Amino acid sequence: MDDKTRGRLTKDGIRIYEPSDFAGMRKAGELAARILDEVADLVVPGATTGALDDFIRTSVEDAGATSATIGYKGYKHASCISVNHVVCHGIPGGKVLKDGDILNIDVTVIVDGWYGDTSRMYVAGKISRKSERLVQVTHDALFKGIEAVKPGNTFGDIGHAIQAYVEAHRMSVVRDFCGHGLGRVFHAPPNVLHYGRAGTGPVLEEGMFFTIEPMVNLGRPETKVLSDDWTAVTRDKSLSAQFEHSVGVTADGVDIFTLSPAGKFHPTYS
Ligand code: MF3
Ligand code: CO
Ligand code: CO
Repeated sequence: MDDKTRGRLTKDGIRIYEPSDFAGMRKAGELAARILDEVADLVVPGATTGALDDFIRTSVEDAGATSATIGYKGYKHASCISVNHVVCHGIPGGKVLKDGDILNIDVTVIVDGWYGDTSRMYVAGKISRKSERLVQVTHDALFKGIEAVKPGNTFGDIGHAIQAYVEAHRMSVVRDFCGHGLGRVFHAPPNVLHYGRAGTGPVLEEGMFFTIEPMVNLGRPETKVLSDDWTAVTRDKSLSAQFEHSVGVTADGVDIFTLSPAGKFHPTYS
């Protein structure tokens, strides 16, 4: 079967994919990750976020793939680029990066009908210790969530692992946006919350595909969406960071579809 109804649905409406479907997700995830690897060299003070998006759009085209975001609910760009206090869904354009900025770049591609969705943090020039800490804690929080992915655990276990780690570092987890199922569609059940109680929520089963994409703020968790109807910012103007992987549940754990081919998922500091 090669349509959006392959596999079966759980009682919570979560699609269970076949073992042979993992290869398609790995291919899509790898392309998204490779593009995020390659854009890294362009992230320097003086660059515009629009130039970064141009590179990403061209890279998707050159690979013979499709951008999932262009045309999605009227969105016109191949990436979301969220700088400093922008939490997510920052629109690329004329904004010029300056020394010390931190930014998330989020790319979703479609390869042979499979969706690969990943984002990571970048730094322009030399960043402050507090920015560095935020980026590190957010990165590590994502992996705390990924470590909770195995059959028999619940989605609440993932959210709890992330929230406990972030709050132990006196930072806050954004509640207004969540991860999501994906596969042959961009956004599907379940909502993958980055906070919650252990043992609650749907039980993870082999063959589930979803994203984990925690947003972490240095200040309070509340966000607001600007008048462009996309850009989400922290209400208190505090810095925000995010990392995202697309993953699949295997018989004994997790397959991370969007691993960086170049080992560049985490930005390195000079
Ligand atoms: N890639 C984002 C996610 O992680 C969604 C972006 S939708 C867009 O789910 F339209 F803003 F691009
Ligand atoms: Co996503
Ligand atoms: Co994304």
